[in-house]
Amino acid sequence: MSPTHLPIRKAVFPVAGLGSRFLPATKAIAKEMLPVVDKPLIQYAVDEAVAAGITELIFVTGRTKRSIEDHFDTAYELETELAARGKADLLAAARDVLPPGISCCYVRQPQALGLGHAVLCAANIVGDEPFAVLLADDLIDALPGQPNALAQMVAHYNASAASVLAVHDVPREHTKRYGIVSVGGSTHASHSPEAHRIQAIVEKPKPELAPSTLGVVGRYVLPAQIFDALRTTPKGAGGEIQLTDGIATLIAQGQPFDALRFTGQHFDCGNKLGYLQATMALGLRHAEVGEAFAEHLAAVQKLQGK
Ligand code: G1P
Repeated sequence: MSPTHLPIRKAVFPVAGLGSRFLPATKAIAKEMLPVVDKPLIQYAVDEAVAAGITELIFVTGRTKRSIEDHFDTAYELETELAARGKADLLAAARDVLPPGISCCYVRQPQALGLGHAVLCAANIVGDEPFAVLLADDLIDALPGQPNALAQMVAHYNASAASVLAVHDVPREHTKRYGIVSVGGSTHASHSPEAHRIQAIVEKPKPELAPSTLGVVGRYVLPAQIFDALRTTPKGAGGEIQLTDGIATLIAQGQPFDALRFTGQHFDCGNKLGYLQATMALGLRHAEVGEAFAEHLAAVQKLQGK
């Protein structure tokens, strides 16, 4: 097995961001702890990683983010209380946030210097092996019966040894919100994952300058060499050290990176509309409240004469 074919065991979750788009909700709590129905956003990303075979979770945290550590820890008082009251279901919900055999590790990003800097904060813990990065803002709901987005990326990495970025088509007027890649060959929307070698990547280009409309969503499978690239990456878009710029350096050095058009439904929970759409989609499917919620929505539509 060549070094680039080491298995993907570790995932980095950059969770130090301010969450200013959700103020005042995120004044005192982490934006990653905002619930979609009954699970915090970070739990969706962690569940996706674990289902993709990740066993070591590395959270890059900051001030006001202690609730994330508490969430993945044992809550003795709560569990004792629920056990004493015989609330087995609730006890399981509180306990089963992580399956056995999964370890968590927390490192602080002392200053908000950008996503690239956040990932670099995990360098010592990741060490010399390829790893995944998941941004909890990007909630990706797997299609029924299909592997989740990160699992599709890990499968592609295992088959190709190329690093992998998850991409989807974005409206041209939205290129300023994403890392945008240009790829060899044409791409088309399809119902199975589709990969293309990346030729270039640029962070948040203006629509008229964007090399394509393939936008990176917050899932990456990266080589350990990204850390060296990030150590020398100057501030880029928005005055921040950008992960995209570190990746661009490795691509320019000839490292293989593939853009994977994954299957699954993406919700940008970093903005209010995407968050509401995710709540609606997952609420309608929820075992406990889904049916009643659907009836409520139907009644609302009827009232509005639609
Ligand atoms: C980050 C990345 C960007 C990527 C996006 C996906 O931007 O810098 O390249 O397309 O995540 O969500 P952010 O949304 O943190 O500004």
